Amino acid sequence: MKNLVISTGAGMSAESGITTFRDAGGLWENHNVMDVASDEGFARNPALIHQFYNERRKQLLEVKPNAAHYGLVELEKYFNVNVITQNVDDLHERAGSANVLHLHGELMKVRSMRYEDRVYTLPCDELSDRGIETSVDTIDAYGDHVRPHIVFFGESVPNFDPACRLASQADIFVVIGTTLVVYPAAALLQYAPAGAEVYYIDPNPAAVPSHVHVIAKKATEGVAELIQILTQK
Ligand code: APR
Repeated sequence: MKNLVISTGAGMSAESGITTFRDAGGLWENHNVMDVASDEGFARNPALIHQFYNERRKQLLEVKPNAAHYGLVELEKYFNVNVITQNVDDLHERAGSANVLHLHGELMKVRSMRYEDRVYTLPCDELSDRGIETSVDTIDAYGDHVRPHIVFFGESVPNFDPACRLASQADIFVVIGTTLVVYPAAALLQYAPAGAEVYYIDPNPAAVPSHVHVIAKKATEGVAELIQILTQK
């Protein structure tokens, strides 16, 4: 089977009802992104950050994967599919995608501030308040504070190297719903081999090199079209 690598951004989840960053006008649910998604912000006001992510978690529990998420699962019948997402939601997993690599972390996870590899999926019995009911002072069974399992601005992107490896093995590379401006995620496109077919689905696409097939549609319609193109070959 051919390797199909799909890189998704905020536009992938827009039709599920999650606002994209750009559409939110630089604010994230009325907060300055640097207050709620930077290491300085966390050091300054951890309580605000915990409360903020708990609100996002509650919101996430209320939305569902959309037809585009399910369409990518459908493609697993024909291809060896790997999804690389900038999104912190779990909609790819809930739709059933088998291989999902999160570049910017995962909203439904927290990790120990003392031992980085102690990662908890919420809600979790090993946490003082199961992680989502209260906001400020969540501690794990070892007595250590936890923090969101999110890559803040100013932090490195630990999954970037595995993402580059996947991109470099792609026979087909697809980008969905991202402005292609936030690095390092935007750079992934450059790791696709020269001979790979490349598709880009976005209703408002950024300028891309001429070998990229642009499908200027929303994710749900664009993925339906992509399935037709890829399965009729
Ligand atoms: N279907 C597909 N694409 C869509 C849809 C839709 N229904 N609606 C909007 N879009 C597109 C927009 O045209 C835009 O190109 O999704 C993109 C969203 O862009 P951003 O909001 O900038 O999101 P993204 O590129 O994922 O942001 C990158 O910025 O703040 C950081 O870490 C955050 O991962 C995020 C990163």
